[in-house]
Amino acid sequence: RISVFLLPLYFSKSIIDKYLYSMRLSDETLVDIMARFRREMQNGLSRDFNPTATVKMLPTFVRSIPDGSEKGDFIALDLGGSYFRILRVKVSHEKKQTVQMETEIYDTPEDIMHGSGTRLFDHVAECLGDFMEKQQIKDKKLPVGFTFSFPCRQSKLDEGILITWTKRFKASGVEGADVVKLLNKAIKKRGDYDADIMAVVNDTVGTMMTCGFDDQRCEVGLIIGTGTNACYMEEMRHIDLVEGDEGRMCINTEWGAFGDDGSLEDIRTEFDREIDRGSLNPGKQLFEKMVSGLYMGELVRLILVKMAKEGLLFEGRITPELLTKGKFETKHVSAIEKSKEGLNKAKEILTRLGVEPSHEDCIAVHHVCTIVSFRSANLVASTLGAILNQLRDNKGVTRLRTTVGVDGSLYKMHPQYARRLQKTTRRLVPDSDVRFLLSESGSGKGAAMVTAVAYRLSAQHRL
Ligand code: GLC
Repeated sequence: RISVFLLPLYFSKSIIDKYLYSMRLSDETLVDIMARFRREMQNGLSRDFNPTATVKMLPTFVRSIPDGSEKGDFIALDLGGSYFRILRVKVSHEKKQTVQMETEIYDTPEDIMHGSGTRLFDHVAECLGDFMEKQQIKDKKLPVGFTFSFPCRQSKLDEGILITWTKRFKASGVEGADVVKLLNKAIKKRGDYDADIMAVVNDTVGTMMTCGFDDQRCEVGLIIGTGTNACYMEEMRHIDLVEGDEGRMCINTEWGAFGDDGSLEDIRTEFDREIDRGSLNPGKQLFEKMVSGLYMGELVRLILVKMAKEGLLFEGRITPELLTKGKFETKHVSAIEKSKEGLNKAKEILTRLGVEPSHEDCIAVHHVCTIVSFRSANLVASTLGAILNQLRDNKGVTRLRTTVGVDGSLYKMHPQYARRLQKTTRRLVPDSDVRFLLSESGSGKGAAMVTAVAYRLSAQHRL
């Protein structure tokens, strides 16, 4: 009786395992990818190879994690993740450092993300004006920290020259320009308030700083959300592009671009290629497209379509909904992988797509989701492993003890992701004690910390 019950389950799983064979990466492959990424990091850091490096390893001009002395009243803008947020962060010192935050979320409609840069920054300035109005601080000139989650070339903290848009954004006339200047211009044009933009920070850096506030050992910032990326504290003597050899500086790796030179072709699948062709930036951010939330649901959908076409799912039923780009979202992957309600969720979601799923179909789709999200966590474990090895070698220790600050919608919402990532990372880098610390308050607090330090230094300057 038992075998009769288990047979279809086992049967569909093993078919899918074979079908998605190339998405199931062995530890041997993961170790190999870890070594490849380590080489990419070294290329990005070196003067000779940086100009042609795919992983850009951008210096951030952030030189230390919070030391507890930061204080003041700050604004943090957070643009480029799932939401556009504006925060007011008050850091005070009564006995111990405390942080008080107020947040508003603003819409960024698609036509603004894809329109002219001027309009985009007018929109940002307008939302900031609204926020200051609500906070009744329009008459003050508060220091602003700008979390801008895109690759930027920096030669100082309060400059960010956008190298290229990634993820959902593609506003014209911004690539190659300094986003601080663009925002200042938009604010000046309005004339109804003043702002002092002190720092541009990547969301990875903001996350590392937010977590560094609670755990001094934090020296890596990791994002697994709409996009994926990481930063870490590198020795100055290894950073050819910045003068000086003393101390450390945070490097924004921009690992989303790993593979853009063809170095991941052996593990990319037909589905990855199709995702890339249909994206805003074909040929770019190839690692990100295998990993992050903006693409994961769509990857699953493409697999389901192909399987249905071959009669392996839904008795071959294909509906217009199933064929529509974006109809299967990453949040659906998360729902389907919930341990108790997962199969019911699968039934609900697939029914909405009109494919009339059987129980076996639901089990099969659950398994497809698991393979795709597991691959994502495994790939991140490899690249993160390379960073951990670099940190360990930098410190010259045999066993690394460190903390990774993490944020991002996929990491937070997916029921199994965090556990799998942690487990694989520990397996790939066995000689380490890694603590994964979830950034409870996003990157805003960290951006305010960076701003606080910059503000203090600039005040000293002005004296
Ligand atoms: C993209 C951006 C990167 C950002 C990441 C996570 O990869 O290029 O700057 O950190 O998304 O938001």
